[in-house]
Amino acid sequence: MSNSQQTTSQHQTRTTDSDQSLETTSGETVEETEEAWVEYDFQGDAKMVAEDLDVYYGDDHALKGVSMEIPEESVTALVGPSGCGKSTYLRSLNRMNDRIDAARVDGSVQLDGKEIYQDGINLVELRKRVGMVFQSPNPFPKSIRDNIAYGPRKHGDIETGLLARMLGRDDSEEERELVERALKQAALWDEVQDRLDDNALGLSGGQQQRLCIARCLSVGPEVILMDEPASALDPIATAKIEDLIDSLAEEYTVVIVTHNMQQAARISDQTAVFLTGGKLVEYGDTDQIFENPQSQRVEDYITGKFG
Ligand SMILES: Nc1ncnc2c1ncn2[C@@H]1O[C@H](COP(=O)(O)OP(=O)(O)OP(=O)(O)O)[C@@H](O)[C@H]1O
Ligand SMILES: [Mg+2]
Repeated sequence: MSNSQQTTSQHQTRTTDSDQSLETTSGETVEETEEAWVEYDFQGDAKMVAEDLDVYYGDDHALKGVSMEIPEESVTALVGPSGCGKSTYLRSLNRMNDRIDAARVDGSVQLDGKEIYQDGINLVELRKRVGMVFQSPNPFPKSIRDNIAYGPRKHGDIETGLLARMLGRDDSEEERELVERALKQAALWDEVQDRLDDNALGLSGGQQQRLCIARCLSVGPEVILMDEPASALDPIATAKIEDLIDSLAEEYTVVIVTHNMQQAARISDQTAVFLTGGKLVEYGDTDQIFENPQSQRVEDYITGKFG
């Protein structure tokens, strides 16, 4: 898989300034995009809605006019070549781009119909509702138990320790239950129940990633954003993460970036294909995208002709 620098150096713009829809990477067909390709009719409610979303890093226009509705309690896959803006889009869904100095976001993102890009939004609360799991497992260098309890403690949902006891509050039992529940949900409990006080860094990569998912679940999110969560894992650990994602979609809205087309086809209900230039080119039912895409470029991408 090429990295973003390689992609940038391959960039060819075969267009006039007024029409950026024809911006392509070498090897791609030149094609006008059609708005109808990104309209996705689904049953049920949208959990998140992006409208005319643009993201800039300084002068670099990384994401262009993305409008997309994300159905609740389902798995949405984001695919596309390196550098096309998948991570940028994912981060815009819980305002993680706010942490990048050069980043500027225009447009709208709603969570349950409420604008997240408005003044007065509590970002801690937003990121509790819209949690994130990263590409490389990043457990804290603390015990397995403390990794899970950290978020609920920080949010004040559980209070333990000497001070809490002096104030007449001790949620140790709640904490024990919460840790067990999150680890069971993340399909890790059986492997770690006897070593909860061991350092999390002693777990295998696949276990660490499930721990990070458990940590994300421990604060009670509604949406879980995952940026290539299995790309650093072996096939067995990957299969465990895929099974887990499948079960999470019964209760949560999962949005996952993956470079693995088979994985997207296996685990997602709908797939959004981003292509060079930061545009969402096609979005629809995963079966339709993989079996009968409307865009020639999307077909070429998913069949491995470029990217
Ligand atoms: N923190 C940043 N500062 C400046 N530019 C950035 C930053 N993050 C991303 N970009 C640029 O924005 C564009 C989109 O990057 P992004 O990381 O969203 O792509 P991606 O689709 O996730 O790629 P990959 O598949 O390689 O992870 C690229 O041109 C990238 O160089
Ligand atoms: Mg990325």
